[in-house]
Amino acid sequence: MDQQLEQLRAEALAALAAAGDEAALESVRVQYLGRSGSISALSESMRTLPKADKPRIGKLLNDVRNAVTAAIEARKAALEAERDAKALSGIDLTLPGTPLSVGAIHPITQMLDRAIAIFRQMGFVLADGPDIEDEWHCFDALNTPADHPARNEQDTFYLPDGRLLRTQTSTVQIRTMEQFAPPVRIIAPGCVYRRDEADATHLAQFTQIEGLYVDEGVTLGDLKGTIQYFFRELLGPDAQVRMRPHFFPFTEPSFEIDIKAAALGKGDRWLEMAGCGMVDPAVFQEMNRKRGDTAYDPEKYTGFAFGFGLDRLAMILSGVPDIRLFTDNDARFLAQYR
Ligand code: DAH
Repeated sequence: MDQQLEQLRAEALAALAAAGDEAALESVRVQYLGRSGSISALSESMRTLPKADKPRIGKLLNDVRNAVTAAIEARKAALEAERDAKALSGIDLTLPGTPLSVGAIHPITQMLDRAIAIFRQMGFVLADGPDIEDEWHCFDALNTPADHPARNEQDTFYLPDGRLLRTQTSTVQIRTMEQFAPPVRIIAPGCVYRRDEADATHLAQFTQIEGLYVDEGVTLGDLKGTIQYFFRELLGPDAQVRMRPHFFPFTEPSFEIDIKAAALGKGDRWLEMAGCGMVDPAVFQEMNRKRGDTAYDPEKYTGFAFGFGLDRLAMILSGVPDIRLFTDNDARFLAQYR
């Protein structure tokens, strides 16, 4: 038996040294160490040995098994190294690599992210609506009938089927109230579209953020506090808010919001920033009609709404002199905002 084992060891090591690839190596492994391999067969026959021989032969058997296992591992590593070396030959590792270009977050998106984070602190949640809208969501439901002057003022892109590109994110007020009963407290950022000649301060597409809060007992004071908190968080504690009476069809009373803050870099000048007001009860009534219930009971609920453009704020805060840079898609412009 001793001899048999020594012979097996010698045979196995020779076969391994000759194995030219990983498949050959595997078949050698199966031949000697597999469940019905020669070494396994010998260890089976240990049972028939005289008791006195068992420790010596057992140890030898282990030695042989370990030696063959180690030789397989070593041969495997050698074959892998050979394969790697072959794959790498012909590649010049000293050549410069392919540079990865790193993107940047668009200044409007950065502005949006900041605005959303601040409104979230006050419990506003994000709401959304489509850019392609119907007239009802964009005008009628917002108390703006067909012959209303506001409807002409907002030069609208109409699609051949009568739908339109939304001119204001106020559409999302309607979409939210259709779906959810009060209380609702949402902000809705997104693109809006108007027929405007492009120049340094105008584009046919720009970005607004809309807000709507409806609950029992919501007041004009809540509206002012919300707007004030927002602009102080965004621009610093010196930011001042001024509300000027104005007209919007879907709010009564309505206001325009002016802001003064050192961060705006306009010295002592007020900057017109947003529209806002208390939701007109006519909007609630139209919601009830559409919903077929009385969820928006104007006797029970009040609400405020506001909407403002983000482009001008982003221009001021990011130092962008021409709004067209936002949509030119020039990588050199964007690279400045990494
Ligand atoms: N939608 C208005 C605009 O685009 C802005 C606005 C004014 C939104 C008053 C409001 C609001 O929610 O209450 O000019």
